[in-house]
Amino acid sequence: MLPIASSIADVRRRVTEAKSQGKVIGLVPTMGALHLGHGELIRQCKRDSGFVVVSIFVNPTQFGPKEDFSRYPRTLEADALLCEASGADLIFHPEVEAIYPDEREAMCFVGVPKLTTLLEGASRPGHFQGVATVVLKLFSIVGPDLAHFGTKDYQQLLVIRKMATDFNLPLEIRGVQTVREPDGLAMSSRNRYLNAEERQAATVLSRSLRAAVQAVDRGERSADRVRQILQATIESEPLAQVDYADVADAATLEPLDQLRPGSGSVALLAVQVGPTRLIDNMTLPG
Ligand code: PAF
Repeated sequence: MLPIASSIADVRRRVTEAKSQGKVIGLVPTMGALHLGHGELIRQCKRDSGFVVVSIFVNPTQFGPKEDFSRYPRTLEADALLCEASGADLIFHPEVEAIYPDEREAMCFVGVPKLTTLLEGASRPGHFQGVATVVLKLFSIVGPDLAHFGTKDYQQLLVIRKMATDFNLPLEIRGVQTVREPDGLAMSSRNRYLNAEERQAATVLSRSLRAAVQAVDRGERSADRVRQILQATIESEPLAQVDYADVADAATLEPLDQLRPGSGSVALLAVQVGPTRLIDNMTLPG
C-alpha cells in the first residue's frame, strides 16, 4: 500500500531520504478525484524521475465564493489505488490547516502576472492567485526537481511556468498532453458531475475545437472566423452555454486577429454544460 504523508515534516523526511539515495524527485500536484489523465501525468513523471510524489489537496484559495469547493469530489481510497498503479511513490495529503495555518487576511499570496487577467482569470477572479500560491507552497514543501501539469489547464500551465521563472525556482515544469475519452471529451474531475444527457452534450467542446483546427488546416487565417466556428458549434448544443471561446497567442494568451504561420496559437474554451463548467483547448496548426 502506497504511503500517505499528511504532515509537512513527514513528506520532507521521505523526500530527503529519496534524495539521499540519489533519486530525482518528481511532483504531480492534484486536487484528487483522479482519472486516467492524472494517471498519465504520474506515469510520465515516473518516466522522468526516480521518486514521484502526488499531492492531493483540494485548495480552498482557488475557488470563488460561488464555486464548488465544498462539493468537490474527495475520493482518497480510489485515488491511492490509481496513484499506486501509475507508479507514484508517495501521496502528500495535508489538511487545510497544515497548508494554511493562518486566516486569509494574515496570509502571503503570490502576485500573478498579466496573463491571469484573461480567459479563466477574467471569469474566475482570484483563481490563479490561489493556484500559484498553493503550487509555490507545494514546491517549497516537497522540493521537486520536476513537476508535471496537464495542458488541459493551458493557462494554469503558463502561469506556473512564469512563476517558476520569475522566482528562479530550481525545478523544471513539464506539460503533459490532454487525455481524452474515446468520443473526444477531455478527462476532468468535473466530468463526474455530468448526467447522461449532459455527458453527451459535453462532447461539443472537443467537436468545436476540432472544427476550428480543421478550418485552420483548410487555410482559414482570420481568428474571428475561427471564433465564430467555435461559438456556432457550441451554440448548436442546447445544453451548452459559452463562457468564452477564444483564439489567442500560445505564449501570451493575448487575443489574435490573424493566424500567422510559425507563431503559435491556441483555441481555448470554457463552456457551461448544465450546472457544470468545463474547459478545453487545442493548439491550432501552423
Ligand atoms: O490543476 C489542479 O488540479 C490544481 O489547480 C492544482 C495545480 C493541483 C493546484 O491546486
